[in-house]
Amino acid sequence: MSFKAVAEVDASTGLVNAPGFEFVKSQCRICHSGSLIVSQRLGEKDWVRMIRWMQEEQGLWSLGDLEEPIVRYLTKHYGISKN
Ligand code: HEC
Repeated sequence: MSFKAVAEVDASTGLVNAPGFEFVKSQCRICHSGSLIVSQRLGEKDWVRMIRWMQEEQGLWSLGDLEEPIVRYLTKHYGISKN
């Protein structure tokens, strides 16, 4: 029998618990729940665009050094080539 490595989902947020999770957990659930994130599938450029939109229109702050690991996390776990 073989099992595919499945990333563990954090029960309190619904988000995959993997590198970058802590940043998304702390930065991305202040205005809305993690389920908005989980239900999206975007490529890297579109994740960045989404962040820019929230920064320009919704009052999201600059993520600074956290942006890179956050975008990497989002693209890896909620990207278009992954289901
Ligand atoms: C300052 C407030 C704020 C923060 C912080 C925030 N968002 Fe948002 N976000 C919004 C608003 C407002 C909406 C649109 C309203 C809604 O759909 O509830 C939204 C919508 C979304 C959506 C759904 C868009 C759609 O088309 O349905 C996603 C995905 C998302 N945010 C991801 C993130 C991620 C990832 C982060 C962390 C980097 C984040 N948000 C942090 C305000 C914020």
